[in-house]
Amino acid sequence: MEKIQIFDTSLRDGEQVPGCKLNPKEKIKIAKELEELGVDTIEAGFPISSPNDFESVNQISKEIKNTTVCALSRAVEKDIKAAADAVQYAKRPRIHTGIGTSELHIKYKFNSTEDKIIERAVAAVKYAKSFVEDVEFYAEDAGRTNNIYLAKIIEAVIKAGATVVNIPDTTGYCLPQEYSNKIGFLKEYVNGIDNAIISTHCHNDLGMATANSIAGIEQGARQIECTMNGIGERAGNTALEEVVMTIKQRMHQRFYTDIKTPMLNRISKMISEEMCMMVQANKAIVGENAFAHSSGIHQDGVIKKRENYEIINPIDVGVDHSSIILTARSGRAALAYRAKQIGFDLYKDQLDIAYEKFIHLADMHKEVQEAELSTMLNQLFEDSQFQAVQLQK
Ligand code: KIV
Ligand code: ZN
Repeated sequence: MEKIQIFDTSLRDGEQVPGCKLNPKEKIKIAKELEELGVDTIEAGFPISSPNDFESVNQISKEIKNTTVCALSRAVEKDIKAAADAVQYAKRPRIHTGIGTSELHIKYKFNSTEDKIIERAVAAVKYAKSFVEDVEFYAEDAGRTNNIYLAKIIEAVIKAGATVVNIPDTTGYCLPQEYSNKIGFLKEYVNGIDNAIISTHCHNDLGMATANSIAGIEQGARQIECTMNGIGERAGNTALEEVVMTIKQRMHQRFYTDIKTPMLNRISKMISEEMCMMVQANKAIVGENAFAHSSGIHQDGVIKKRENYEIINPIDVGVDHSSIILTARSGRAALAYRAKQIGFDLYKDQLDIAYEKFIHLADMHKEVQEAELSTMLNQLFEDSQFQAVQLQK
């Protein structure tokens, strides 16, 4: 069993989303929850970006005891110095520095050359190393970077002392097979690759972030960068809850994480509220409908045996129970189940009568709520003839 490290960047990449900005107090509150959740690293912010962000990283570094606290910087001395100052009180400080490596970035962002970018990358890692032992290097836009050049720069930064090498699919461009080949290529051709941890950092522009991160793990990456609820620039980052539960449900014979999964639902809600970022109802693991069933066939199956339509036990992610939602697509099994939950144990012929009434009610509403169901059943039971129907359950 090998451990996959979880690097949470909700407070840095996640916080870059318009409207999600947090003040230091809010960031500290979330950082403490993330530590409790069991993440290995908290990327607390980008200290050079603003005095408030510097303050947040600095405070988090003082408060967090068991988790690595990481600060982002560009491959620029003043950024690295600010990051180093911000994490100076951390028990386990890390500086995350890097530069764009794709042809596009080298040419149009930096107006530079491949060789000069390697020089800057190496100098940045060496400078960061003069402050902390743990230095992570990111090759921005690695997803669109030529693999041979990527291998060259990764080899150089590891030689310069990088302890973690981050291979971001910054624009969410890669297909899982491409990202998997990229990590596999680095594992095979970079001298000294075993001296560093390979990290995935996948954005979700094509909805591939989770698949790409998992593909990276299969090829030898041992850290996943992710955010709660998948928040992040544009279409977001890899969702922490998705990769963690994928590892737990489907890869548990080979890998594990230290995440306390029953905390996921609560933390998801807290982050959603703090960051004013709604979680879509059909979001995997933490969405409102992730364990809700509303069609008759599925409801009947779940009532007979939960596993018929659920691959995760809701309790494992902090949801009390699966829900049977009453809609016009529900069948008799769901009605009987929900009626019984509120104290009406119906005989079969009573159920037939109740179902007729229910389906008309359901056609008028998107969902029949418990109060409406209760009113409907109470009205039926006021009728002595309905009460007398007791043929069979
Ligand atoms: O997406 C990206 O490339 C990043 C880096 C700054 C790590 O967020
Ligand atoms: Zn990113």
